[in-house]
Amino acid sequence: LQDRQPIVAIDGPAGAGKSTVTRQIAQALGLLYLDTGAMYRALTWLVLQSGIDIQDEPAIAELVSKCEIQLVPGENPQEPVRVWIDQQEVTEAIRDLEVTSNVSAIAAQPAVRKELVKQQQRYGRKGGIAIEGRDIGTHVFPDAELKIFLTASVQERARRRQQDLKNQGKGDISLDELERLIYERDRKDSTRTLAPLQKAVDAIEINTDGLTIAEVRDRIVALYHERVSTA
Ligand code: DC
Repeated sequence: LQDRQPIVAIDGPAGAGKSTVTRQIAQALGLLYLDTGAMYRALTWLVLQSGIDIQDEPAIAELVSKCEIQLVPGENPQEPVRVWIDQQEVTEAIRDLEVTSNVSAIAAQPAVRKELVKQQQRYGRKGGIAIEGRDIGTHVFPDAELKIFLTASVQERARRRQQDLKNQGKGDISLDELERLIYERDRKDSTRTLAPLQKAVDAIEINTDGLTIAEVRDRIVALYHERVSTA
């Protein structure tokens, strides 16, 4: 028996709907929400800001060991988590295309993963979290009580991304280009040697094509009640 509250681990490729779904699950089940991608993004923002070459692993190792990343829940559960790094708020900046297209290269570096995984494990020490990423079920919390692997076709994910960008008033990128970017990031995230994006053997895969966020959320909440909570 474990001396901690349950952990729900949600992994999957970019654009499968992890963030919205995980946030809603956390709210529905009274768990803390942790977006690990935001941590890799915040560090990437800082690297770009500092003018460090993204291939300069020793300099980035030094930076990650010294920087302070904070994830602050919004006033209400509908609001995104605010992200801070070294006293600067980067909530919006970390969603930029420049950060997005450089984050995989930085997330592949051993020193970066070692440090950020350590912080994630510290955060989840007592459990009671819904945590999303790429390697949560396989590496960060291999003992998570419920592991979900969320997927969707590249076409569907590109359509969702385009809608998101449109909603933010940044609608000038074509579906083809978005598909290419998603495909490229999947390739980098799945083929890196260290903790690649991979379904844990005991994860339950949910393909979200054609499902609403509410349907995906309800399915996971039901699984949680079936398999985890005894209440
Ligand atoms: O989920 P996201 O798109 O915000 O993640 C940004 C990048 O960070 C993604 O391309 C891969 C990387 N990442 C990772 O390597 N491990 C995680 N646990 C989460 C994200």
